[in-house]
Amino acid sequence: MTRKKTLTMKSINVVMIAGLFILLETAATARSQGDDGIPRLRKQGTAQQLFVNGQPFLMLAGELGNSSASDPEYMRPKWTALTKMHLNTVLVPVYWELLEPAEGTFAFGHVDSAMSAARRHGLKIVFLWFGTWKNSMSCYAPQWVKTDQKRFPRARTSDGSAVEIVTPFSSECMQADARAFGRLMKHIHSVDGKDHTVVMVQVENEIGMIPEARDHCPLANDAFAGPVPSELMATLQKGRESLTPELLGMWRTSGFRPSGSWEEVFGKSAQAEEAFMAWHFARYTNAVAAAGKREYPLPMFVNAALVRPGYKPGQYPSAGPLPHLFDIWKAAAQEIDFLSPDIYFANFKEWCDRYPRADNPLFVPEVANSQSVANAFYIFAQHNALGYSPFAIESLDDPEHNQVARGYAVLRQLEPLITRSQGKGIMAGVLLDSTAQVERVRLGEYILTVKHEFSWQYGWRPGVDTPRVGGMVIMLAPDEFVIAGTGILVTFAPIAGEYTRAGIARADEGTFEKGEWKPGRRLNGDQTHQGRHVHLPGGAYGIQKVKLYTYR
Ligand code: DGJ
Repeated sequence: MTRKKTLTMKSINVVMIAGLFILLETAATARSQGDDGIPRLRKQGTAQQLFVNGQPFLMLAGELGNSSASDPEYMRPKWTALTKMHLNTVLVPVYWELLEPAEGTFAFGHVDSAMSAARRHGLKIVFLWFGTWKNSMSCYAPQWVKTDQKRFPRARTSDGSAVEIVTPFSSECMQADARAFGRLMKHIHSVDGKDHTVVMVQVENEIGMIPEARDHCPLANDAFAGPVPSELMATLQKGRESLTPELLGMWRTSGFRPSGSWEEVFGKSAQAEEAFMAWHFARYTNAVAAAGKREYPLPMFVNAALVRPGYKPGQYPSAGPLPHLFDIWKAAAQEIDFLSPDIYFANFKEWCDRYPRADNPLFVPEVANSQSVANAFYIFAQHNALGYSPFAIESLDDPEHNQVARGYAVLRQLEPLITRSQGKGIMAGVLLDSTAQVERVRLGEYILTVKHEFSWQYGWRPGVDTPRVGGMVIMLAPDEFVIAGTGILVTFAPIAGEYTRAGIARADEGTFEKGEWKPGRRLNGDQTHQGRHVHLPGGAYGIQKVKLYTYR
């Protein structure tokens, strides 16, 4: 046997043994967690996945516009459109003002009609709890909360003016919110505890302080003058090596003081004020989540409005679950399973790169619906993402043929392969536009160079926007890959060995039906530039399977 073949065998064995180990591990976890099928997060290798009814589930989702779910009639014609776009999950707001119109009186109409419509259309739901805060403001709080400022005090700016944000220092409001959320989860459990149509819940929406970095109401001022909570100090001490650079930097200004007021420990700055607010927002949200989980322990998460370049705390919704505040949110809100970014900025990739951690799977609950679904291919493969969700999904035209429909149709086919592959180091995602025109991926025995298709026959056109393209590579064997996506060209080179060049042994386009590969055209000639590359044309989403060989 040549050295090359020995190497190949070795890699296959390693992959098979790793696969077997993961299978055993997954089976053991399933046994230890009981097989009730309740949606939960489970580990597979380095990934955390959402399991529903005992199976991994990739959320090909979309979020409804804010007011749509308040009227079942308005929604009635929209559900079919969602299925035409091949969604399997829809993110649906639940409005505190409608759920508890009078204190202690609950009305579940809009919740129930969303659940039954979703079931009829074969969709899963992620409910979004629009409770005390929605995009910083307390606009979804019921009137009995809004109009009783004595019982539910407002946050205030430094000149003493009230803003339409209930202060997170109000324990009355925290309890009222937690009670309502607990009732919601109890209700979901009673009507959906067996079907599992509802797979996760977002607690509050885009929490954040604005227009100043911190709240200046009397309760907030007292807390700010008091000591940094000992639980936070203990977490910081314990995990000092892994703290985010921002928090470490602030703490360094005091020479890593082990205790003291917020300003004594973190310095006198808007950043320190933001850290203080993050702790209190997170504690409040944690109490709400805990009340919900006591009734029905679905996975729960929070979402963040991201920061515009150059903005300072107070100019953006500050103190939300942002990457530079991870340590604080994680320490304060242990009932929250993960923190998520809402991505409306063009630098999708940069934000996605900042969220996944061992203790934080990536989910993108909101993304501008004009952005390319190539994003989803990227995050599922590169970051083992749980899901992807364009905003105001029901407002998109041409649901049968729009780019969400075309991208999701392909991702639906790939779902079993993706979920099988997550966390095993055998996948990579690529995303290319004018800021990144080439990426290299190292998988199996090859380096794959992925370029924007504009780099070839179309050429870069000055003044013409470079559309975002991208996709995923999944290694089936050290010399065999599934490549899926849009607008990319892939060339290959061996990583090592005496054979210095790689060629395409065969390339097929095709589809996956119930997880099984159905080859279509054998691609060669012009379609592979006479064997030089694999090309997934832009404007469409496709899958190709390619086997390589080496020569010298
Ligand atoms: C982000 C929010 O989370 C959504 O509810 C919605 O308000 C969008 N922004 C609007 O662009």
